[in-house]
Amino acid sequence: MTVKITWRSIVPMCCVNGEEEPCKPKKEAAAVTKQGSFLRLSLLDLSNPSSTTLSEDLSISLAGSNLHVFILAELKVITQSFSSSNFLGEGGFGPVHKGFIDEKLRPGLNAQPVAVKHLDLEGLQGHREWLTEVIFLGQLRHPHLVKLIGYCCEEEHRLLVYEYMPRGSLENQLFRRYSVSLPWSTRMKIALGAAKGLAFLHEAEKPVIYRDFKGSNILLDSDYTAKLSDFGLAKDGPEGDNTHVSTRVMGTQGYAAPEYIMTGHLTAMSDVYSFGVVLLELLTGRRSVEKSRPPREQNLVEWARPMLNDPRKLSRIMDPRLEGQYSETGARKAAALAYQCLSHRPKQRPTMSTVVKTLEPLKDFDDISVGTFVFTVPTDQEFKENESATAAKKNNSNHRQNHKLHRQNFRSPKSPKLIHSESNHSFNSKSKGA
Ligand SMILES: Nc1ncnc2c1ncn2[C@@H]1O[C@H](COP(=O)(O)OP(=O)(O)O)[C@@H](O)[C@H]1O
Ligand SMILES: [Mg+2]
Repeated sequence: MTVKITWRSIVPMCCVNGEEEPCKPKKEAAAVTKQGSFLRLSLLDLSNPSSTTLSEDLSISLAGSNLHVFILAELKVITQSFSSSNFLGEGGFGPVHKGFIDEKLRPGLNAQPVAVKHLDLEGLQGHREWLTEVIFLGQLRHPHLVKLIGYCCEEEHRLLVYEYMPRGSLENQLFRRYSVSLPWSTRMKIALGAAKGLAFLHEAEKPVIYRDFKGSNILLDSDYTAKLSDFGLAKDGPEGDNTHVSTRVMGTQGYAAPEYIMTGHLTAMSDVYSFGVVLLELLTGRRSVEKSRPPREQNLVEWARPMLNDPRKLSRIMDPRLEGQYSETGARKAAALAYQCLSHRPKQRPTMSTVVKTLEPLKDFDDISVGTFVFTVPTDQEFKENESATAAKKNNSNHRQNHKLHRQNFRSPKSPKLIHSESNHSFNSKSKGA
């Protein structure tokens, strides 16, 4: 369980603009700065919306983004009244349920599974987080950001409808017990995908700071493509000569950068720190904070940092569930990268585009040590060949042959000979307070 650092309360309708600024009069123009081919609307442009005009305002302002505006009754139908059998997960905003949309619900909708996030009216978050998410995700499109399909704003109800991500969150995949652990190359693929999502946000014409980067907000497609979801805390980056944005400190303990917690000064480098924490979780298989561990090991960053730059010590912190099946070169480079991201000095951290460049080759390193757990079933032909080879050689050169076979099979998971027990994903674990 993760603990929020400070409040997140239901925000009165009149306070949806900047966190520390008073409400400003609504600007005439819907958008402020150029973002790609269209002008990206920001929260400040939607100040003081009343509940009756907000929905209308939003659908006009976001008209170009193809967002569907749903009514609550429709979302009830598609989620079977938010039944527990459709439950996918839960963070601080409220529960998320699976549903299915198609032409019958609304002409023009592509038939597809969706995830519906419903604001918990008794929870800690509220209208502001919902609006932030609609505004950011409604306008930003990228292969590594989850796609927002639509929303619902009816009386006090606030819902969001996203593309469904079949493998759920990275948190669930990495820390679920009783399942096959994520292989090394998949971990590197996830790190790279999530890094590309963050790099896109930081490098947008009007940059965005994500502010809540962590495993439960990284969702996985069927092929483990990582996509960022949950933009409830996202902020527009500093503009003009400003070096940072001043905000109330919000985020998740264990992931937020120390200087941000101390000063409230938010920069893209705060996201880079959080990325370093998640990279460390991928390497070690440990959560950023684990109260059940001995005191010295409870804070992942503090425990692992001294070992990240020492190749001899690195193996001590690598996830035991990998059973040694990782590229040593790759692990060394990933650990050095995590070390830089976790630097106490924000300026010494790499930018997310440097992180992407560093990670890009890591998924392809193939100096994975030969494991003993890969069980291969030889075909009849191979069995005969093996038999005759044994008879012919009767010595340990045969052992080397088998060894090679194992290695080849390990490298090509598509091989029909490889028995690969991929567990089915289940979403019954609640990550309250994520
Ligand atoms: N599009 C989705 N597809 C599948 N599961 C999802 C999807 N969106 C959210 N979830 C599940 O719900 C959890 C909470 O979602 P999230 O958007 O992080 O909500 P919150 O804003 O409350 O933190 C995720 O960690 C994940 O397990
Ligand atoms: Mg979340």
